[in-house]
Amino acid sequence: MGRIRILPDQVANQIAAGEVVDRPASVVKELLENALDAGATRIRVHVEAGGRRLIQVSDDGHGMNRDDALLAFERHATSKLRTADDLLSIATLGFRGEALPSIASVARVTLDTATGEEVAGTHMEIAGGKILHVDDAALPRGTTLAVADLFFNTPARRKFLRAESTELAHVTALVTHYALVHPEKHFELISATHTIVSAPPVARTAERIYQIFGKDTLAALLPVAAEAPLARAGLPEPPPWKRDPDEPARDPGTLRVSGFYSKPELQKLNRNSIYIFINKRLIRDRLLIHAITEAYRNVIPPTSFPVVLLFLEMPPEEVDVNVHPAKTEVRFRQQSLIHDFVRDSLRTALIQARPAAGFLAALDPHRPADSEPEAFHSAATETEAFRLTPRLPAPVPGKLPFGSGFNAGGWGNQQAWGEAAAALFQPANLPSTNGCSAATEDAAGLISPATATAQVEAEQAAATLNHLGSLRPLGQLRESFILASGDDGLWIIDQHVAHERVLFEKILRDRQVEKVQRQRLLMPMLVELKLSQIVVFARIAQELDQNGFEVEPFGPHTLAVKAAPVGLEGAALERMLAEVIEQSSQDSDQVEQNEDLTALRGRIAASIACHSAIKVNTPLDPARIEWLLLELAKTSHPTSCPHGRPIALLYSWKDIHRAFHRI
Ligand SMILES: Nc1ncnc2c1ncn2[C@@H]1O[C@H](COP(=O)(O)OP(=O)(O)OP(=O)(O)O)[C@@H](O)[C@H]1O
Ligand SMILES: [Mg+2]
Repeated sequence: MGRIRILPDQVANQIAAGEVVDRPASVVKELLENALDAGATRIRVHVEAGGRRLIQVSDDGHGMNRDDALLAFERHATSKLRTADDLLSIATLGFRGEALPSIASVARVTLDTATGEEVAGTHMEIAGGKILHVDDAALPRGTTLAVADLFFNTPARRKFLRAESTELAHVTALVTHYALVHPEKHFELISATHTIVSAPPVARTAERIYQIFGKDTLAALLPVAAEAPLARAGLPEPPPWKRDPDEPARDPGTLRVSGFYSKPELQKLNRNSIYIFINKRLIRDRLLIHAITEAYRNVIPPTSFPVVLLFLEMPPEEVDVNVHPAKTEVRFRQQSLIHDFVRDSLRTALIQARPAAGFLAALDPHRPADSEPEAFHSAATETEAFRLTPRLPAPVPGKLPFGSGFNAGGWGNQQAWGEAAAALFQPANLPSTNGCSAATEDAAGLISPATATAQVEAEQAAATLNHLGSLRPLGQLRESFILASGDDGLWIIDQHVAHERVLFEKILRDRQVEKVQRQRLLMPMLVELKLSQIVVFARIAQELDQNGFEVEPFGPHTLAVKAAPVGLEGAALERMLAEVIEQSSQDSDQVEQNEDLTALRGRIAASIACHSAIKVNTPLDPARIEWLLLELAKTSHPTSCPHGRPIALLYSWKDIHRAFHRI
């Protein structure tokens, strides 16, 4: 007798469950996605014991008739896909026909569903994959799926579950994310004792952000929206002999991005606060994270990450969603096009917004303090998509600002999935002592989400650096900071980093058109190098040359610098060279080759700028101050120096009034 056997369905389902369902949050994900696919407008999630005891998702979607309800728990039973070709253009969140049988194989499931068209709805009970009971029931249109005792028959799995609060945090993060993509739908998350998320429909994402996270979070984010027509479709055209001559040419469609990104003043130490949705599906994607970090290059430090909530829309043919069992990864058919579109849209938005950093916000110690890269060390694998270890803080009444104590799981190096329980995206009203949040109080009280959002937007529109050129300089503070008054308040500008930004952008511009001005040194400057540094130097020599340096070997370990960019001399020149060589040697093994050159250019420009800029403790006459402000106003990113430090802080008129108790 042969050795090979076909596995019984129940075993096959449990194996699939291993990939699809690994914790309560992944059950919630599948059920939420089913509800959304069923066109629900109101979704209510109820969990007990962090979802270990019970997860119940109710929706008002199109429901199922009895035949469909019975089929839904069969493996590969789906209403969302018919042919293999359909796989090329999936418009629903689900399509594998795996979720329900997988869940039902590892839990006790009750289904109540009705289409509203039949006389009766259906009530069904399933445990460990076996249908125990099916009955007619009088039900309104929609579906309620209750999943009790998750992993009751797979103790090994159950052991991996974390504390209830941890599991609840993951569930909360998940519901929150889906609530963010669908502001027009009503989402609720309820635990045995608290209402955790309560988000009635609103008109815009900004209002939803306010509803869930409160005003402070909304105020720290700026909107981005852009679109571009696709030049060609991602899928190749059929060959001429297969083409139908009557068929009109295919419209390649449009690429759209919308969402929110953080002001440069807000910086995170990991990428846990970058959220990307493709066609309303929450995914993780290295390519897009790269595009986002590129957009922030030389605006925030290279070791920091922004907070980004990005909604990308594209024709379904442009993205393959069938590359991961939990559907959390995708593959783009036109990768570099999408990468560049995201990078450029974000960068343009940043350049246009030029948000001013508030003086008080810059002082706030609760800013992005999520410096717990614990998740980077968690050996999360692809199938552990949702297994992360956030820590719930002690109950906090009211809004939680960024990074207020939640440690998110990471998108870390091991591609851990950082969607759960991220510092930022924990809703304001996570279980608090009174179970009620400031955000909901605001919402229920005097201010509607729409009004509050409009207020935040008006304040943001006012606080930009666009008026830098028209500020009235008042003088210097300790010969280091420029004070200036404007209609919006008192400005404090760091003269060194301001000049650094001006020079940095000039150097990059000049370099681009090969017009860098070099100056001959009276005496060549000799620089000693270690053996390893000589190799690094050889790699960057050409780029240095393009930046105004003239350097020649002078003996085996020595270089002779004969010319340097204008404004850089003496000890500053020496320090600058040492810095670039040092940074380039750290970098050489981790950076991809093609990225190298832009990064190197930025680094050299930043280093030249830093070492030739006006220092602190330097007196400046009024004309020089005025010149500096005007030049700074002309830069693309007057918000921060190339290393990410803030340049200008605004003590707003409103804060001044408030501090003097006038309002
Ligand atoms: N809440 C719901 N309302 C209406 N129909 C539902 C609901 N949940 C599931 N169904 C039906 O049951 C089918 C099976 O669901 P299941 O989640 O197992 O597979 P799927 O959503 O098609 O694919 P995937 O495995 O990728 O999620 C769905 O195709 C859908 O027709
Ligand atoms: Mg599904």
